[in-house]
Amino acid sequence: MSFINKLLLGDNLEILKGLPDESVDLVYLDPPFFSNRNYEVIWGDSGEVRSFQDRWSGGVDHYIAWLKERVAEMHRILKPTGSIFLHCDWHANAYIRVEILDKLFGYGNFRNEIIWKRTNAHNEEGQLGKIYDTIFYYSKTSRPNFNTIKSPYDVGYIDSFFKHEDNRGQYRLQVLTGAGTRNGDSDSEWNGYIPSKSGRHWAMPKKLFAKVAEGIDTTGWSIIQKLDLLFEHGHIVFTKNGTPNYKQYIDDHGGVQVNDLWTDIENVSLKAERIGYPTQKPIALLERIIKIASNEGDIVLDPFVGGGTTVAAADKLQRRWIGIDQSVQAVKVTELRLNQQQALFSQPFTVQLHKYDYDRLRNMDAFEFEQFIVTQFGGQVNKKQRGDLGMDGKAADGRPIQVKRSDDIGRNVVDNFKAACERYDKKAYEAAKAERRPIGTIIAFSFGKGAIQEVARLKNQEDVFIDLKRVDEIIPIAQKPKLTVSLQDAGSDKKGLREIAFAALGESPAGIEFYAWDFEHDPAKGFKPTVLIDKEGMQTFRFKPGMHTIAAKVIDNDGMEAIETLRLKVNGEVTRVGG
Ligand SMILES: C[S@@+](CC[C@H](N)C(=O)[O-])C[C@H]1O[C@@H](n2cnc3c(N)ncnc32)[C@H](O)[C@@H]1O
Repeated sequence: MSFINKLLLGDNLEILKGLPDESVDLVYLDPPFFSNRNYEVIWGDSGEVRSFQDRWSGGVDHYIAWLKERVAEMHRILKPTGSIFLHCDWHANAYIRVEILDKLFGYGNFRNEIIWKRTNAHNEEGQLGKIYDTIFYYSKTSRPNFNTIKSPYDVGYIDSFFKHEDNRGQYRLQVLTGAGTRNGDSDSEWNGYIPSKSGRHWAMPKKLFAKVAEGIDTTGWSIIQKLDLLFEHGHIVFTKNGTPNYKQYIDDHGGVQVNDLWTDIENVSLKAERIGYPTQKPIALLERIIKIASNEGDIVLDPFVGGGTTVAAADKLQRRWIGIDQSVQAVKVTELRLNQQQALFSQPFTVQLHKYDYDRLRNMDAFEFEQFIVTQFGGQVNKKQRGDLGMDGKAADGRPIQVKRSDDIGRNVVDNFKAACERYDKKAYEAAKAERRPIGTIIAFSFGKGAIQEVARLKNQEDVFIDLKRVDEIIPIAQKPKLTVSLQDAGSDKKGLREIAFAALGESPAGIEFYAWDFEHDPAKGFKPTVLIDKEGMQTFRFKPGMHTIAAKVIDNDGMEAIETLRLKVNGEVTRVGG
């Protein structure tokens, strides 16, 4: 199966129903919590507000029913080795576990209740601060994909345990012996210490020794020789009572196996990765989940993708992915975020909105366009690209279809089509004619007066019916918004940087959602936003003297976008070059 990563706009229930059984390896979902608060409305566009009303028209039972039918679909599409991670908080976590996950996945497939410490301080009047979220981890069967992973110690742990420091860094002392006595080499006396006297034997820290002895041939070495080498390199110290210990540095430790209490992942509020909406989850959280329950090339699904943290992490970790959101804004922010992060290893992805971009369709590869339109029309594609009299497919009733990827189709196209139908299948042509049915369908963006008159003439004078279909009668099409960008020079600062104020003005019948800016635009690399969400279209940026390319994007409520590029020459003054 050739799989393309996808971002899909729509109610996840409908979209999930269309995904095949057992096709996904990992689902992470961070649905809106059951808080009935306006802060649950993040994006504020019509799609999201509809979903908010949907799940909050009743009490907790209603919310649980709303979520449960969606999780049931997720269960169906998970592979037998697949897992689900459901992110929630105190508002409904007890109900979600008992009423949804235990019932759909089974109590026996419960793996963990992960506690993620989201914040430190959270004052609440008359109660204790609520500082964690819950992530329920269930598997579809008893044989899930599972990888053990390690995490570096958190800062508090390091400071309380790695108390010593030398020029190599922070370290702690670890014993060089193991419990129980052994004979021979493992009980040799070294620097006055005989392990068996304390009921122990020498236990060499293998990784440390390998590191210190790198490049030395140590075959046949005794424990005493090895201890001498570590000692010479300053790795062994003696306690007051003469017991030898070795120094374990933080970097050599390799971390601890991750358990179900996650206190080492900071929330995004203060971090650079923050892209400006309230429920964004940290990428480190998603990377950890993805590493635990999937492998490279696996398919990760987030049906409440929001600003795209899951798919951004999946892309980084070379998993394939599907992201769904009901909000146009969420889908577009995710698309921009992925563009921003796209690297050499990134996989291509498609974005499916409710409406199709006219310009994109007009510029699509001709054969790809024909295939797409014939399928959307409910027809069957003609796989041959040549030698079929220009027929691109057949409608459900067998009549031929010709697709033109152009506007203003003329009279000659109609006449040629009629002749082609006659030659293509003479019998079918005659039968359609006799029954006064269309002999075929021509699909195009628009038809000129000549074509329409010719179809009328053929019908009236020759009893030949030809069906003309505009693309927008088959699929909804939207035009790009308009965008103009103006700028104002705000002078130089003390460091000699030039401050410029930009104002973007978008126009669209659908309404403008937001703007995004790329202040170091390189057309060869595509649009990589410096500012990802700007609701007002106003930005100020400082530039060094020299040439600069700036690109602004406007996104409307249909998800259509327009881009405007400016070339600026910045020295003693600011000059707009070209365009
Ligand atoms: C809590 S946010 C997810 C945040 C995300 N984890 C992140 O890090 O950016 C929940 C998202 O669910 C979306 N949503 C709500 N109801 C939905 C539905 N029925 N179908 C698809 N998406 C929905 C909202 O638009 C919102 O973007």
